[in-house]
Amino acid sequence: RIVYVNGRFVPFEEATIPIMDRGFLFADGIYEVSAVLDGRLVDNEAHLARLDRSLGEIGIRNPHTIAEWTRLEEELVTRNNLREGLVYMEVTRGVAERDFAFPPEGTPPTVVMFTQAKTVSANPLAERGAKVISVEDLRWKRRDIKSVALLAQVLAKQQAAAAGVAEAWMHEDGFVTEGGSSTAFIITEDGRIVTRPLSTALLPGITRRAVMRLAEENGLTVEERAFTIEEALAAAEAFFTSASAFVMPVVEIDGNRVGGGQPGPMTRRLRDLYLDMAK
Ligand code: PDD
Repeated sequence: RIVYVNGRFVPFEEATIPIMDRGFLFADGIYEVSAVLDGRLVDNEAHLARLDRSLGEIGIRNPHTIAEWTRLEEELVTRNNLREGLVYMEVTRGVAERDFAFPPEGTPPTVVMFTQAKTVSANPLAERGAKVISVEDLRWKRRDIKSVALLAQVLAKQQAAAAGVAEAWMHEDGFVTEGGSSTAFIITEDGRIVTRPLSTALLPGITRRAVMRLAEENGLTVEERAFTIEEALAAAEAFFTSASAFVMPVVEIDGNRVGGGQPGPMTRRLRDLYLDMAK
């Protein structure tokens, strides 16, 4: 397994980061995850645009152009013979003596990339449908930044794992914000696809945007508004989206069946449309 660290492709076992890295000490960094299908990156330019935005929002200079990032990702995919899975990219504010304020001008950011082999397209969970639990959203107020400060999601998703379910849907002031690592959707009885509008309360999902576009291109109605867990429980269908799950049907929330307890027809269609687009 070959990984990328600060300009070099090295064997995984040899890749190390200094203990003074600000990513380690302060979670002072951001990340991105792109899917790979048939050896090709999926919707990667949108992921790199969000990476650039995340860096800008926290004042880290983007160390690479979009073209350079793409070349590095492609080389990593090739070197690992990755056919299907994920590319993980992280940029931190670099290595410096521990001090909360930014390190001296010119401190180079730390850049790390690795691949993970994973079946995303023929995932059996997509056939069965995923169960989720609802948890309170304990995160900070800038969730639009893809920060590596993920402790609230770690705790939420551990609760989900302990409950034997695939994802935690986080809520705040009664409304669902998003999944621990995904965007939440419901489909109403009259066939409208509902997802929360973008704001600082949630991550602007790249898969979310692609699914919304595909839905609209296929004559389906998308409504951007916040919804509650109660509304999700009464919905005809529910699903979540992410680079690692694509479109994942939800069949149970907090032990209660959603729809018929089976992946719904519109969700299946959206998953197929997404897979067709991605291939
Ligand atoms: N997570 N919301 C949150 C909080 C996320 O962490 C993610 C992605 C999404 C979906 O975004 P996208 O469609 O761009 O993948 C929404 C990645 C996959 C992760 O942390 O592994």
